Amino acid sequence: MRLDKFLSDTTDLTRSLAKKAMHREEVMVDGVVVKNPATQVGSSNDVSWLGQSLALVGLRYVMLHKPSGVECSARRGLYPLAHELIELPKSERLNPVGRLDVDTTGLVLMTDDGQWSHRITSPKRRCEKVYEVTLDEPLEGEAAQRAIEMFQDGVLLDGEEQPTKPAELEMLGTHRARLVLIEGKYHQVKRMFAAIGNHVTDLHRSSIGPIALDETLAPGEWRHLSEEEVGSF
Ligand code: URA
Repeated sequence: MRLDKFLSDTTDLTRSLAKKAMHREEVMVDGVVVKNPATQVGSSNDVSWLGQSLALVGLRYVMLHKPSGVECSARRGLYPLAHELIELPKSERLNPVGRLDVDTTGLVLMTDDGQWSHRITSPKRRCEKVYEVTLDEPLEGEAAQRAIEMFQDGVLLDGEEQPTKPAELEMLGTHRARLVLIEGKYHQVKRMFAAIGNHVTDLHRSSIGPIALDETLAPGEWRHLSEEEVGSF
């Protein structure tokens, strides 16, 4: 890899600022000042800037227990961002694999591996996402049975041209349900319940495919995925 790219990957410097730093003789490779940005370096080289050794971060895979009031977005708006909860270098490069609304809690997978992310979110994969839902109005008896059938058959949501893909609804109580989706339309769970005249008051994602939210993680906490979890997609 070129030295200017190595510096932009491992520090806050852009490639053009990296070139300027080299010009100011701030960059060393294996103890020798290097000014040529095209110099090839790899993991066997000791690259330093202003005396500090730099290491490539590589690909990272984490699960976050997203609390309410945190946004799955790249740009700061009103709320703190999911990647700001991950205390890793360059955490802004960790992108959520499928977003949750700001008020939704639960499992968010985050990675800087775009191909892995695509394998999970690709509609062809039909990866199952499990949501725990709390409803404003009771849903029971025949109405519950109708909702189960309707969600199984597909619902035409406002503004959409295609009905939703088959979704499995299980009632856990009069106001509590589990919904399994194999796609991820915008606000899909809330819009599906709105389509049957109900309102979601609390929404929590408990799993994505074979990866379940680690119950030892409190809201706001995260951990690296195991090799097995990463390999499961
Ligand atoms: N469906 C929603 O409505 N919101 C989410 O955050 C996720 C799925």
